[in-house]
Amino acid sequence: MSTRFSRRTFFRGAAVLLAGAVAAACTRNGQPEPRGYDAEPRPLPIPPLYEGELIDGRRRFQVTTQAGSAEILPGIVTTTWGFSGGHLGPTFRAHRGEDVTVDITNELDEMTTIHWHGMKLPAWADGGPHSPIEPGATWTPEWTVDQPAATLWYHPHPHERTALHCYRGLAGMFLLDDEVTAGLGLPEDYGVDDIPVIIADVKFTADGQLDEEIDPTFGLLGDTPLVNGITNCRFQATTRRLRVRLLNAAGMRFHHLAFSDDRPFHVIASDSGLLAAPEEVDSVLLGPAERVEIIVDLEPGEEVTLRSVGLDNNFGIPTGENSPDFGFQDAFNLLQITGPGNDAPQPPELPGELDPAAQASPDLRGAPRREFVLNTFEINGRLMDMERVDFVIDHRGPELWTVTNENADWPHNFHIHDARFKVLSLTGTDVAEVTTSGWKDTVALPPGSTAELAVEFGWHPDNTMPYMFHCHMLLHEDMGMMGQFMVVAPGQEPDLVPMSE
Ligand code: C2O
Ligand code: CU
Ligand code: CU
Repeated sequence: MSTRFSRRTFFRGAAVLLAGAVAAACTRNGQPEPRGYDAEPRPLPIPPLYEGELIDGRRRFQVTTQAGSAEILPGIVTTTWGFSGGHLGPTFRAHRGEDVTVDITNELDEMTTIHWHGMKLPAWADGGPHSPIEPGATWTPEWTVDQPAATLWYHPHPHERTALHCYRGLAGMFLLDDEVTAGLGLPEDYGVDDIPVIIADVKFTADGQLDEEIDPTFGLLGDTPLVNGITNCRFQATTRRLRVRLLNAAGMRFHHLAFSDDRPFHVIASDSGLLAAPEEVDSVLLGPAERVEIIVDLEPGEEVTLRSVGLDNNFGIPTGENSPDFGFQDAFNLLQITGPGNDAPQPPELPGELDPAAQASPDLRGAPRREFVLNTFEINGRLMDMERVDFVIDHRGPELWTVTNENADWPHNFHIHDARFKVLSLTGTDVAEVTTSGWKDTVALPPGSTAELAVEFGWHPDNTMPYMFHCHMLLHEDMGMMGQFMVVAPGQEPDLVPMSE
């Protein structure tokens, strides 16, 4: 890894350079506004909705991974990667019960993989590090959508290269619909009142290219937030009610999200689908890979800004001179929203109940327990080994997983493939902001904290291909903070076929 400037040094330098140009500093410690935020806001780009083609009851999608460019900063062409385009990817949409096929052709000049984050599906179709797509090759996963409606996403997962591939722009949403969600009268007009908001961050070189220097502690933590791939954007609402699907696609940054006027809003869904009932909040914390769907109501003509407001408690990380600064107190303006015209009709009452079936936690009587201790780049004292299967699951029932962040001054963000879980408890921390509501696939872990998870897995027994569990801070994942499990038929032993290098 290359030479390292501490973030503190970097910000001091940047402050001097930009001092004259920036009027209102909005971030902490007198930091200047990030690059691109002093210009006029641009309209929020909406990734194209992609429903594929329905052929004989099977939904067929086709995408490429490719190099291209994007105007991340106004007026500057930045080299990026994208799905079927220069940057990010289309928003896939499918319905519960449908059979899905995706043809992914890799037009990059290096190997990648594509993982369906949050999807329950066979391990061979999951797109983890054992499913490389070589340059020029096409990979065709198939599965049946067998889970509740949710905001999922897709991104690369190549062994030790995930952070860089995501950072260059390979990420997109995957929306699942079902009858429960359709019957609730929620906003569902994509790009109109049902808005995808993909939050990421980058750092730029002086000439506006992506700075790909990987810091040994902070990885590719950026100083400039992007929403749907650009800096400083605005959404003009045409309705008084918006459903905003928030995805933290950042590799390292956590966002504590709120509105500029601290207005209350409702969370209606977390990672794996609807909550049992809307929850009124005035902020929500999203670690890397986490999603929520929120409902926000607007008055005609009003202006409000979705902001990342920082955490006063610094996520439980000490704030001394020698403590690492993961950016938990950084504040950013992310998205300006303008209310609709006066003639926009009043929205209906928000339903008091969303998905009652989401209320119950799995029955854990007799369920196997497993413990995971996260420390620096290791889980249970071990680094990822592509040829080691850490454990097998040979039953259909739920499991009780206990996950502890043993570090005193590092955050972690634990994710499980082919699964959804309820956070039964989070102890050992004072950080009350961690999102624990509803069914999830990723949970934020402040230093010293322990989460108890009631986990349900998809059931596609296969003793040749593993699923991953890992920290979703992508530097941590790439450095080995990941393990492998298999879902196998009762009594079956793993028979992992090592990937030929
Ligand atoms: Cu977002 Cu292993 O995945
Ligand atoms: Cu995943
Ligand atoms: Cu981690």
